Amino acid sequence: MKDLPYVDFGHTPYEAAFGRADVYGVNGTPERAAKRPLSIAIAGCGGVAQAKWVPAIRRLQTIGEPLAIAGVVDPDEARRQKTASLCAAPAFATLSELLAKTRVDIVLVLSSDSFHVPLAEQAIERGVSCLVEKPLARSYREASSLARLAEERGVLLAAVANKRFSPPYAQAKALIDAGALKDRPTIFTGKFTLGYPYVDLLEGGTVHLLDLLLWFMGPVARLSAQGTFQDDGRLESAVVSFGFVSGAIGTIMTSATGLSFAPWERVEIFGRNAFLVVDDQFELTLHDGEAAPARSWRPSVPNTLMFDESFGGYSGLLENVLDSLRGLATLGSNGCDGAAAIALIDAIRMSLERGAEIDLSIEGLMP
Ligand SMILES: NC(=O)c1ccc[n+]([C@@H]2O[C@H](COP(=O)([O-])OP(=O)(O)OC[C@H]3O[C@@H](n4cnc5c(N)ncnc54)[C@H](O)[C@@H]3O)[C@@H](O)[C@H]2O)c1
Repeated sequence: MKDLPYVDFGHTPYEAAFGRADVYGVNGTPERAAKRPLSIAIAGCGGVAQAKWVPAIRRLQTIGEPLAIAGVVDPDEARRQKTASLCAAPAFATLSELLAKTRVDIVLVLSSDSFHVPLAEQAIERGVSCLVEKPLARSYREASSLARLAEERGVLLAAVANKRFSPPYAQAKALIDAGALKDRPTIFTGKFTLGYPYVDLLEGGTVHLLDLLLWFMGPVARLSAQGTFQDDGRLESAVVSFGFVSGAIGTIMTSATGLSFAPWERVEIFGRNAFLVVDDQFELTLHDGEAAPARSWRPSVPNTLMFDESFGGYSGLLENVLDSLRGLATLGSNGCDGAAAIALIDAIRMSLERGAEIDLSIEGLMP
């Protein structure tokens, strides 16, 4: 690898700050201004919609993305009214009402998990593209049939995988693609911990780590899980080992006995006499020589040029989805990617139940 690839770490892009003297990137660019204007609907006005997606939309609009919010939907009146006022857009109690009254290019499905599939199906049936929060569905069967429906109708279906667009992980991927590990990835190890008890350990949190594992390593051929359980039968902790189709191997631990804030998440990827580590979705370190210095990347916090919407991966993901819709980019995480992460959750549950290794192909859990 001759040159290190450059991924901005959530700050104003270098070229905007130093090339155009536009430290917040608010002047836009002719390329951005020339993009086809798009109209977004938000279905689900809870925490993630208000705290992450509305700011991500606003960030893109601030830097000149031609984008409008057509309306917001939530059965809960107080939430939809609050979000409608944040968005300066009309509020609807149901998605069908919104779709009947408004023209939209894409629906962001940000509702509680059980409503992801029915809401996405409604939009796709009407030929409207969707970006669906994780988990894409509650089972691989449901997720893959949603992906099939979108394909049959020729409608874009994107799955939320915001960590792929978070700078430490995006930089890790760029380094691997540029040959920094001196070989294809040979081993993946990952850790995820969660302190708060009200979300499902696998669907609510570990799904992010499983998506990263698939993104870095490719499809899984088989896995084997061991777990401990809470008094009410819910999964408390699990250790899972993986055999990848490529021949590489991996392992993750995930637990609800830890802390949610830090230490929280760690990913290590080994190549051949080189490996990299991403700690707490914050710092990336590359070790590529016995006597060579390690290299590390992390954001400057606090820094007035640092944007949380960008560092969390939300605005980068949304920009990629909108550009894919316009035919300007390849979709970074599609319905099949979302379904593949759910397949791993189904397989982990099967392995825990049977106390046996699961072959994903035999179980019909491979696309
Ligand atoms: N990408 C991430 O890192 C991330 C972070 C947090 C949450 N999430 C996901 O986002 C989704 C929402 O999470 P949250 O924390 O905002 O939950 P929340 O409970 O705060 O909000 C969910 C909202 O969906 C609404 N809703 C339910 N049925 C609906 C329907 N039929 N149509 C429209 N809205 C409906 C509820 O009334 C509620 O307001 C979940 O699937 C969660 O897994 C993802």
